[in-house]
Amino acid sequence: MRWSNLFVPTLREDPADAEVISHRLLVRAGFIRQLTAGVYSLLPLGQRARLKAVNIIREEMNRIGAQEFLLPALNPAEVWKESGRWEVMGDNLFRLHDRKNAEMCLGMTHEEVFTTIARHAINSYRQLPQVWYQIQTKFRDEARPKSGLLRVREFTMKDAYSFDVDRAGLDRAFQDQYDAYCAIFKRCGLKFTAVEASSGAMGGSQSVEFMVRTEAGEDHIVVCERCGYAANIEKAKARLEAIEDGEAAAQPEEFPTPGVRTIDDLTNFPGGAAADRQIKTLVYVLDEQLALVLMRGDHELNETKLQDATGALNVRPAHPEEIREALGASAGSLGAVNVARATHPLVTLIIADEALRGRSNMTTGANKDDHHLRGVAVDRDIKVERWASLRAVRTGEGCPECEGTLEVFKAVEIGHIFKLGTRYSEIMGARVLTADAKEVPIVMGSYGIGVERILVAAVELFNDEAGIIWPTAIAPFEVIVTPVNVRDASLLAAAEQLYGELKAAGVDVLLDDRDERAGVKFNDADLIGVPYRVTIGKKIKDGKVELLTRAMRQSEDVAVEAIVETLRAKLKASA
Ligand SMILES: Nc1ncnc2c1ncn2[C@@H]1O[C@H](COP(=O)(O)OP(=O)(O)O)[C@@H](O)[C@H]1O
Ligand SMILES: [Mg+2]
Ligand SMILES: [Zn+2]
Repeated sequence: MRWSNLFVPTLREDPADAEVISHRLLVRAGFIRQLTAGVYSLLPLGQRARLKAVNIIREEMNRIGAQEFLLPALNPAEVWKESGRWEVMGDNLFRLHDRKNAEMCLGMTHEEVFTTIARHAINSYRQLPQVWYQIQTKFRDEARPKSGLLRVREFTMKDAYSFDVDRAGLDRAFQDQYDAYCAIFKRCGLKFTAVEASSGAMGGSQSVEFMVRTEAGEDHIVVCERCGYAANIEKAKARLEAIEDGEAAAQPEEFPTPGVRTIDDLTNFPGGAAADRQIKTLVYVLDEQLALVLMRGDHELNETKLQDATGALNVRPAHPEEIREALGASAGSLGAVNVARATHPLVTLIIADEALRGRSNMTTGANKDDHHLRGVAVDRDIKVERWASLRAVRTGEGCPECEGTLEVFKAVEIGHIFKLGTRYSEIMGARVLTADAKEVPIVMGSYGIGVERILVAAVELFNDEAGIIWPTAIAPFEVIVTPVNVRDASLLAAAEQLYGELKAAGVDVLLDDRDERAGVKFNDADLIGVPYRVTIGKKIKDGKVELLTRAMRQSEDVAVEAIVETLRAKLKASA
């Protein structure tokens, strides 16, 4: 490819709305353009990088025996209603009507459609296992699309599904995908962490997310450097230091706390209590049922943990009116002491975080505005119906698996694999006969990669003030040949010759044949992030060219007859 023919609309200035580096650089370097919120066009450079990631994914999927499909993005409502997700997906699902007024939607993932195919065609264990995948467009009407390609409403996903007759088969399929994901992300040049994750609203057991650590990420992961423990904050546990409560007071004692609204207020209030001696009472609505959620005062609730612990599909904080109606007080004075079905019929569940187990001499709201209770013993005074790990782990807490210390990092999720089990096959009736003629639901797994997120993660990881530094495997071009002055016929001729030789050697090469100042060309090559630049300048008279490695910003003189071999060796080493 010649730059003079290539469409690369680079910008001098950062786009005004860009918050994260990858958004800024992908727009400035001419890889992407926004069409509307969360919807982007990929320009030629963006599409080249994307296709390289796609090819790597395809090769590794094929290597583990997965078979490529292409399913329709346009789906009838029926299959989504059958699985129950027509309701569950809420506003995230793009819904539409056809001309006959039939309900349709745009697929946000494809469990339903793949299961439909499996249930019609597969009826014996002899036809299993099967691993099916596709690389296709997904649509999600995200509430807050943001950050360039990071969270968009239309994107490419590689989604794969495994079908087995039993759990052991699923375990093997899951491990194959795990290994393939590691190979894919490694080949794409990414540094990543595989973390334990929540299985989400639609159930399933084991769930692993592939995360790239970056400040641009919207997820939080918890990592122990000592033993390698790694989990999404939605799942992570931690060792807790025991707290000495002393001898329990005989009974709770009410005391006035005028103006106290928050944990901090009560900490600072004369006769109040330290945050870790307070019980924070949160009121949540779980699938239209009101629940009290109890946390230690200095701990934060993680809503996904609450959702996982209760199986609720929809979780939201209660509104002030709902709180007053149920408890007779406002947030700030709430508590669970003596709350029971008989006296508080609207409260359907009291769930508490593990950190409150056995605690005494605690302080909490009295369900009476401007009043609190001290001397509360959790087990004696509160009818906790369910205990669960509900809190968000924090940096500095103890690792649950070793003596090490946990750290919390922001990260972007590039892939997610999980064991669905029989959730879809049961509701949708995908069954097979086993070897001993028993009918069983097919055991399924689901495995996704966000293709454009690979590009986002690479740019977040590898960049400098001059621009992007692509890992070679997903760079739009591997090498750029830059004659410093195309009006000098001998320089141009040498550049053309080298360009031809590199192409013949199978190198993905760009010739910067533009009639621009050398400085402009160097800056553009740095901005778009081509890993190797061969500069053809005055030294060509002595048979030398300059080879610049973008990542190190290091250049060396190489004899012109050796440059193709040198580049081939470097590309091989970085592949
Ligand atoms: N809105 C989005 N924009 C870009 N990529 C996405 C988006 N949602 C999901 N992905 C990518 O698709 C992969 C599989 O999605 P999945 O795990 O089903 O989504 P979620 O984590 O939202 O439940 C994710 O790991 C992520 O890389
Ligand atoms: Mg996910
Ligand atoms: Zn550890």
